[in-house]
Amino acid sequence: MSLKGKAAVVTGGNSGIGMAIVLELARQGASVVIDYVAHPEATEELERQVHALGDQVIGVKADVSQVAELQNLFAAAVKAFGRVDIVVNNAGIETRTSILNTTEAQFEKVMAVNLKSAFFGTQLAAQQMIKQGGGGRIINITSVHEDWPMPGNTAYCLSKGGMRMLTRTAGVELAPHNILVVGVGPGAVATPINLTTMQDPLLLKKLDSAIPLGRMAKPEEIASLVAFLASDGASYITATTIFADGGIMQSSPGL
Ligand SMILES: NC(=O)c1ccc[n+]([C@@H]2O[C@H](COP(=O)([O-])OP(=O)(O)OC[C@H]3O[C@@H](n4cnc5c(N)ncnc54)[C@H](O)[C@@H]3O)[C@@H](O)[C@H]2O)c1
Repeated sequence: MSLKGKAAVVTGGNSGIGMAIVLELARQGASVVIDYVAHPEATEELERQVHALGDQVIGVKADVSQVAELQNLFAAAVKAFGRVDIVVNNAGIETRTSILNTTEAQFEKVMAVNLKSAFFGTQLAAQQMIKQGGGGRIINITSVHEDWPMPGNTAYCLSKGGMRMLTRTAGVELAPHNILVVGVGPGAVATPINLTTMQDPLLLKKLDSAIPLGRMAKPEEIASLVAFLASDGASYITATTIFADGGIMQSSPGL
């Protein structure tokens, strides 16, 4: 599964699932652009780890909810590596607010960070891939909640549902260019986004017991799927989502 000679962009790449993706793509030989908005020190540490694997890497500070910053991110990637072969739209946030009290600002922020960024990230990726020729891979980190209601997290579910349709529609539209667009839908993964649950033994036990595999995923278990989807082995997968959820969608009515 070599990604040697490929250049990848990972949004929200300096923590959690994004960080694991950066490391796995680098392990497979890709050059990587780490997008981040906060914690430059975490990005620098990750850059050191990628260098130690023998790969090229740059960190770029860009708020992906702003199209102008996304444009800067892609320009920096092309400047550094001359091309973009793999884009992982990973950045995401939650508000965990009920539909009854979500504010306009909360709604707009979740939609901009999760969905608008993936839409324009896909657009900019596809424009560059068409320009350079040879196709490419766009991988959208969605969630089981692209399909599965989560009461108390409606704006998040809506954004992930939008990413589901973005993946399907862009996958069909870009197929003639051999640009494959695939969603990766994780279940519960042990990352900072789930800190509240992970720090509450009762909540964690409830969650673990609802998952057929009996535990949350490690970020590396999502990253290995992303690396496969970026590889030659996944050359016939597009316009769909692959779930990595420990079986939870088939067994639980919701949490
Ligand atoms: N952890 C889970 O259980 C889980 C499950 C399903 C889907 N996901 C999805 O996986 C993705 C990664 O989440 P995670 O679990 O690693 O949590 P995380 O909080 O560690 O990662 C989210 C990343 O997005 C970045 N980010 C936030 N706003 C940004 C912005 N405006 N511009 C650029 N980057 C921004 C954050 O800085 C962070 O690095 C998210 O899209 C999330 O919805 C996570």
